[in-house]
Amino acid sequence: MPIITFHKGGQVYRDEVKDNTNLVVRAGIKQFPYPHLRYECGMGKCSKCACRVLAGAQHLPPPNWKEKKQLGERLDAGYRLACQLWVQHDIELAQDETAAA
Ligand code: FES
Repeated sequence: MPIITFHKGGQVYRDEVKDNTNLVVRAGIKQFPYPHLRYECGMGKCSKCACRVLAGAQHLPPPNWKEKKQLGERLDAGYRLACQLWVQHDIELAQDETAAA
């Protein structure tokens, strides 16, 4: 089962999740990475859930059109939309303190 390492506000949170997990869905039912993960729409429309992938990016599928639309050049800096990811492997993510516009 995947291990999620989540950096936010200078803290590091880590937990194991089920295979094929969506972190925004989990946060929505108050499971890790709740309450640390910022998100809003859950549908790839707001970019509030944007996270920088520090490790494990090679296991993720290519960004979908919503991520391309919302993140633009931030994709090149390693950002992904957590709500669009179904995690199947260990991953390390960092979320900025404030949502980038
Ligand atoms: S929660 Fe809105 S884009 Fe992911």
